Amino acid sequence: MSNIGSYEERAKGFSWSVSENELGYRDGNVINIGWHCTDRICEQGKASKLALVWEGHAGAEKRFTYNDIRLASNTIGAFLRGLGIQAGERVCLFMDKIPELYLGFLGILKIGAIAQPLFSAFGDESLFVRLSDAETSAVVTQKKHALKVRKILDRLPHIKHLIIVDHDGASPLKDREVAFSLEKAAPVEHLDIHPTTAESPSVLHYTSGTTGMPKGVQHVHYSLVSQVLTAKWVLDLRDDDIYWCTADPGWVTGTSYGIIAPFAMGVTQCVMDAGFSAEAWYRFIEKRRITMWYSAPTAIRSLMMAGDKIVGKFDLSSLRHLASVGEPLNSEAVVWSQKVFGKPFYDTYWQTETGCIVISNYPGMEVRPGSMGKPFPGITGTILDPNRNEPYPFHGKIGLVAFRFDWPSRMRTYWNNEEAFRKKFRNGWYITGDRARIDKDGYYWFVGRDDDIINTAGHLVSPFEVESALLEHPAVAESAVVSKPDPLNLEVVKAFINLKPGFTASKDLDLEIMNFVRKKLSPLAMPQEIEFVDSLPKTRSGKIMRRILHAREWGEEIGDTSTIEND
Ligand code: WT7
Repeated sequence: MSNIGSYEERAKGFSWSVSENELGYRDGNVINIGWHCTDRICEQGKASKLALVWEGHAGAEKRFTYNDIRLASNTIGAFLRGLGIQAGERVCLFMDKIPELYLGFLGILKIGAIAQPLFSAFGDESLFVRLSDAETSAVVTQKKHALKVRKILDRLPHIKHLIIVDHDGASPLKDREVAFSLEKAAPVEHLDIHPTTAESPSVLHYTSGTTGMPKGVQHVHYSLVSQVLTAKWVLDLRDDDIYWCTADPGWVTGTSYGIIAPFAMGVTQCVMDAGFSAEAWYRFIEKRRITMWYSAPTAIRSLMMAGDKIVGKFDLSSLRHLASVGEPLNSEAVVWSQKVFGKPFYDTYWQTETGCIVISNYPGMEVRPGSMGKPFPGITGTILDPNRNEPYPFHGKIGLVAFRFDWPSRMRTYWNNEEAFRKKFRNGWYITGDRARIDKDGYYWFVGRDDDIINTAGHLVSPFEVESALLEHPAVAESAVVSKPDPLNLEVVKAFINLKPGFTASKDLDLEIMNFVRKKLSPLAMPQEIEFVDSLPKTRSGKIMRRILHAREWGEEIGDTSTIEND
């Protein structure tokens, strides 16, 4: 029997108090994610239970009990407080998936500061726009990534401290730098937890927009209430699970379901900080006896491509439940997983802005391969008619995925950008930016994004950000960035470039520009293909028409361009 039991029963007369009660939360009380994930679990008698099993490159391993993560997060919290970091200040975590990332996250929350995780593959420009927008006070990082921060430190006056967790003393610390070693620091037995309440800010994740720079999605401590209940009813997490969330905490899946929910439920989770290979992943499941596995479509497609034979080499019988998020999960992947693992991947849909799963397939409910499932109990979703901004009165129509924005882990605003936040609403509905339809039984079927954002391997890339980076290359006069289809990543970035006079297209220039973007932004944002063109399609007012280029890449009808031509 699954945790949720019957979806229909749970949806009837639903109230979030189910979860508040389990968390021992009463309206108006202190609620602190850092404390809930560590001290509370220890108080429940699980101090010696394994919380985190970490595996690095070449089989390196570290194990932490709940008491260990309580102490480590206290120690990091006390260190930050000692540096003068106050509640509400932004502390960025810029690290690989090493234990300090997970423990630092909890330590930051314990002192009431705001955790701002950034993907460690980000280049200096991606980093700069996010750190300057958030006016971040401190960055916690590793030696190898500190180089990228140093490059932009002059332009970041708000940063008071660059904290290096693996400083070996070989090279001297530079301006504003300080070393911190979790292994060498004296464990702090008691830390005064900052008395955060429901609406106190907790986490700031940056997400890409169609226009303008990335936006900081601001979450609060009360998010815990829906993160825990969704993990219980959707991921079916149980006390004796060995859980593996493959997401990096630089993205929201890696925090909501890779730190917060599993720890607040006192579950044992495993982390693998090594590159992807089908062998390595299957071996990890076998060795760690993973029971619940939360992953993403691109990874699942990679496993499919590695073939079925390799699956047979490993004992994967520990797996009880599988779920996926981040991009459309094609029905082939669901059918394949049923065949090789004996169970389907359950698709889940949500966004950085929603903070928790909002549409999903539920254990025990019939999975319709290719469908995202149904809204979580207590969450009201709909498909809006884009012309009337009202829900379609009947099923089957393709429209905008929208929600009544009222569950605990919804974002509270975009950092410093209340206007962009307000623009996400129409007629009281929160607009996701996705298009879908609902079938006659209430299942949601994803159709595509309703904007120019590129979803490559589950990561959102803004064409605007890539175009801005391209403009900084000396050879580029103008560019247009769109997605093109890709069998593995579903979509990849493609750039159309018009060169400045004096530059000629060549393979070398092609590679040079690709590398330029990779270093400035990230490997995800790097164009996989560049097409040099003499001119770009534009509206009469000079706006580049990405839509025409996009349609060409996807072999779609261009449709009516008269409206955009007159933009
Ligand atoms: C966008 C949100 C929070 C999950 C990690 C990504 C796309 C997400 C699905 C799914 C089809 C999906 C949507 C969404 N997306 N899940 N199951 N099927 N598309 O968070 O970076 O904020 O991206 O990812 O387009 O709006 P994110």
